[in-house]
Amino acid sequence: MTFTPRVFSGIKPSGDLHLGNYLGAIRRFVPLQDTHETLYCVVDMHAITVWQAPEDLKRWTYEIAAAYIASGLDPGKSIIFNQSQVMEHAELSWIFNCVARMGWMERMTQFKDKAGENSENVSLGLFAYPSLMAADILLYKATGVPVGDDQKQHLELTRDIAKKFNHDFRKQIKDLGFEEEFFPITETLATGPAMRVKSLKDGTRKMSKSDASDTSTIYMMDDAGTIARKIKRATSDAAPLPETAQGLAGRAEAENLVGIFAALSNRSLDDVLGEFGGRGWGAFKPALADLAVAVLAPIAGEMARLVGDRSEMDTILRDGADRARAIAQPTMDQVRRIVGFIR
Ligand code: TRP
Repeated sequence: MTFTPRVFSGIKPSGDLHLGNYLGAIRRFVPLQDTHETLYCVVDMHAITVWQAPEDLKRWTYEIAAAYIASGLDPGKSIIFNQSQVMEHAELSWIFNCVARMGWMERMTQFKDKAGENSENVSLGLFAYPSLMAADILLYKATGVPVGDDQKQHLELTRDIAKKFNHDFRKQIKDLGFEEEFFPITETLATGPAMRVKSLKDGTRKMSKSDASDTSTIYMMDDAGTIARKIKRATSDAAPLPETAQGLAGRAEAENLVGIFAALSNRSLDDVLGEFGGRGWGAFKPALADLAVAVLAPIAGEMARLVGDRSEMDTILRDGADRARAIAQPTMDQVRRIVGFIR
């Protein structure tokens, strides 16, 4: 049994998008459109596993869809939609809740990190989060998922759920005419070296929308002046830039800023340091600010236009959901039959 090469990924609408989302995720989604069937989702059902003010949830959902399109995802090539419009996600995740084991879920480090001391008082949905993520992926029998390291454990769980489903229902799957697996064993897709963007104030911490300092994070919709100011104030160190990438070892802030420059310009670290090695931050930071503005400003402009036109966005999302459903429904019909639900 061979599966159509199909990619699924998603971003949660739970905050403003930042440079880490762009370089680490969205930008890497774009080239996959030419080699795979691609589905890019705004996972609003995942977002509500922690409290979201409904108006914010809507705004961020539109913002992510707009960022996808403004960054080069083509709604004619990729299926762009929000999760909650395709109710099959919820239905399959319930079935997966009954496939996954408590012990598997209890080992999820992201849950442990998010629940922290407060594990008695977080939502049941937060605990079941990875099961919904497995449903997102397997509903479309996606063969590859581009995600960062922090999602590797969830992908492993997705494979465990697929394997257990394929095994527990092997007789019914066979009776339905499948030679072996019903769900594929989805791979984590590496699309070139991932850029892990760090905080501009602390090169050891991830860039994040929830950072206390508002100069530590470059948002995708920041204006040119704001981007330049944040880069100017970014923490650096006293030494000049090294001549080669090896020289960045032990210099977390320098590594982050040079890494951002390399990623934004599609150049290697060594190439960038060939130009700036030996020079000081006073030369590098303005060049980085100009580059960041040149790359991000057109995207921000297009995002602003799109989020300002909710009826166009609604049309795009509805069309995406229709196309997603056309793939999901036949699979879901088979799943219902496999588990023994009468229709
Ligand atoms: N959990 C992912 C994150 O926090 C978001 C997500 C939900 C996702 N469903 C997905 C990513 C399916 C890839 C595939 O980044």
